[in-house]
Amino acid sequence: MSKLSALDLNKIETPFYIYDSEELSQRATQVKTVFEGLLAPSYAIKSNPNLQVLRSVMSQLDHIDASSAMEVERALAIGLDPSQITWSGPGKRDRELRAYAGLGLTIVVESSDEIDMLDAICAEKGIQQDVLLRINPDHVPKGFGASMSGKPSQFGIDEPEVPAVIADIDARASLRLTGFHAYTGSMCLAPEPIAENIENLCAIFSRAAECASTPPEKLIFGAGFGIPLHDGQVPLDIEQVRTLIAPHIEALAQDPRLGAATRLLELGRWISGPSGALVTRVLSAKVSRGLPIAVCDAGFNNHLAACGMMGSVFQKNYPFEVLQHQGDPAPVEQMLAGPLCTSIDQLSRKITLPLLAKGDVLAVLMSGAYGLTASPTRFISHPEPTEYMIEDGTLRDISESALNHPGTIRST
Ligand SMILES: Cc1ncc(COP(=O)(O)O)c(C=O)c1O
Repeated sequence: MSKLSALDLNKIETPFYIYDSEELSQRATQVKTVFEGLLAPSYAIKSNPNLQVLRSVMSQLDHIDASSAMEVERALAIGLDPSQITWSGPGKRDRELRAYAGLGLTIVVESSDEIDMLDAICAEKGIQQDVLLRINPDHVPKGFGASMSGKPSQFGIDEPEVPAVIADIDARASLRLTGFHAYTGSMCLAPEPIAENIENLCAIFSRAAECASTPPEKLIFGAGFGIPLHDGQVPLDIEQVRTLIAPHIEALAQDPRLGAATRLLELGRWISGPSGALVTRVLSAKVSRGLPIAVCDAGFNNHLAACGMMGSVFQKNYPFEVLQHQGDPAPVEQMLAGPLCTSIDQLSRKITLPLLAKGDVLAVLMSGAYGLTASPTRFISHPEPTEYMIEDGTLRDISESALNHPGTIRST
């Protein structure tokens, strides 16, 4: 997010999220180019579902992962063809499956109940629906920040049960098993565990394909690509990931049973995270028992992850950039509090920055993924941040909600 310094912060109300359209497209192109011939990226909408963000990313990509019915709607709303969309997620509703079955998208089934429900809907409609089976692998390499496999999980079918579930799907006339999906973990910054995971998934998909009556047409590899958020973390070397996975994917491509399948790399934050920031202003500053505290106009209501509440055991500081500052530039240890009436509302418990004063403005960087839509914006009814896109040198309001803004509360 190199364009923050060009903003006229006196004219823009805070807090706001800002995304860089060029950077979104460039990162999408980069991942597509690096894995060319091996895997095609599929953008996980959940990492940032704003329609303009989707447009910037999908100007470069051919595949998208929706994790809810409304994410399917978002993908359709930007003009994607249903064939570009896979719909995953453990909690699909009957009425949602009814609405999208037969439309041409691929549905990733995650449980036997879901298989029963979708089969019944398709039989009733007299259609056949393409499904991928999500597999929950037994083993996840060490190195993923959040692991979803190798333990009891709501995601997918446990690996030992896969042969029986494949036989079950194959026996249903209304469902057509077209391949397999696995997403084992996220936030990995080291190429080796990612490569080990992909090698493991190649073996799992190969064994699963042997149980199926027809060769798979689509295989989805959950990437788990991380982005550096905290001190000491370095960006993932995706070129090195390519080098390490190439022999395994090439072997898979030669396998007569699996070779014809489209291979997707499902990822979100690696594309959207670095391309966005949350900008917040200091509402008041004080010293409490010796510790300087800056009370900012954004807290965990606007950025749950930066406040350490999205899966982290301990809060670690996100990267901050001071954009507007009036006082002494000497760095001082201080707390960055949010505006909420709870002591856990801290963008940073302790951080060393120039001493902040009322009116100063700072940005939480690397916040284009799991920012606004992953935060409880309605808690305590502070204004919801505006979302802006920088595009061709201009700043465009791309907000999708004006929750809690003055004038939006109806009197009853
Ligand atoms: C099934 C699935 N696909 C894709 C993603 C995107 O992950 P990330 O944004 O870390 O790349 C997730 C994240 O939890 C997921 O659960």
